[in-house]
Amino acid sequence: MNAVLIDGKAHALALRQRVAGAVKQLYTAHGLQPGLAVVLVGDDPASQVYVRNKARQCEEVGLLSLEHRLPATIALPALLDLIAQLNADPLVHGVLVQLPLPAGLSEAAVINAIHPDKDVDGLHPVNAGRLCNGQGFLVPCTPVGCALLIRSVRPDMAGLHAVVIGRSNLVGKPIAQLLLAANCTVTMAHSRSRDVPALARSADILVAAVGRPGFVRGDWIKPGAVVIDVGINRVPAPTADDPSKTRLVGDVAFDEALAVAGFITPVPGGVGPMTIACLLRNTVIAACGARGITLPLGL
Ligand code: GUN
Repeated sequence: MNAVLIDGKAHALALRQRVAGAVKQLYTAHGLQPGLAVVLVGDDPASQVYVRNKARQCEEVGLLSLEHRLPATIALPALLDLIAQLNADPLVHGVLVQLPLPAGLSEAAVINAIHPDKDVDGLHPVNAGRLCNGQGFLVPCTPVGCALLIRSVRPDMAGLHAVVIGRSNLVGKPIAQLLLAANCTVTMAHSRSRDVPALARSADILVAAVGRPGFVRGDWIKPGAVVIDVGINRVPAPTADDPSKTRLVGDVAFDEALAVAGFITPVPGGVGPMTIACLLRNTVIAACGARGITLPLGL
C-alpha cells in the first residue's frame, strides 16, 4: 500500500485565498485593514528567509505588513520598549517576534511582553491557557496548520488515538490540545518516554515534532495511520558536482513510512506552507477580536 500524500502547498494556497477574501470583506464593510508587525533580531539566515516570506505573503492577501529589524546586540529593555509601542499602535493587530532570539535575550520575557490579544504566535501564557480551557483564540500557527491537514482526511477524529512525539510549547503541547479538543485520545511521547516505537505503533494519528531527521521509522507506523511530519531538518546531500549540497528532510523516514501509512505529509510541501497561511489567518482573527467583529465566513 502507498500512502496518500497530504498536499500542504495546495491547502495553504486555498487558506490564503480565503484570508484574502476575508481581508477584502473587512475593508469594504468596516474600513479595517488587519496589520502584522514582525520583529527580527539579529541576522540568522533562516530567520531572514522566513521573515521575508511572511512580509510577501501578508502583502499578497492585502494585510498591512510592518517589519522591524534590530541588531543582535540590542538590550532586552530596548526590545521590550519596541514591543510596548507595537502593543499600543492601533494599526498593528498582530505582533510576532521571530524565534530563536540571539543568545542572552530571554524568549519568555519577550513572549510575555506581547499583548495576548496581539500574540499571533499564540505563545503567551494567556493564549496557552485559553487553548487548554477550550477558549482558543490565538492558537500557535504550526499546530493549527497540522489540525487543518488532519481534518482534511479525518473530518471526524472522535475516539482516534493520537500520539504526539515532542512536547515543545511551539508545537507538541498545542497540537495535543487541539487533538484533545477534536475528541482524540491523546498520548504525548518525548525524549524520556519508554518505548516510543510501541507508543507510535498504536497511533491512528501520529504527529512527529522532534527535530531529528528520519527519527520515526516505517515499522513504528500503524498500517493506514495519518502521519504528520512537522520536522524541517537540513541534511547533507553531496553530489559529484556540489559536495556542499544539502536538502530538507522531516522527522519521519519518508520512503519507509510511505509503504505503511494511510496518509502522510511530505517534507517539504506538507506542514511548512501551512504555518504562514495560519499566521495570516491569526492576524485577521486578532483584528476582528480588537474591533468586536464576527470572523468572516470561510475562516
Ligand atoms: N521560528 C520558527 N517557527 C516560528 C514561529 O512559528 N514563530 C516565531 N515567532 N518564530 C519561529
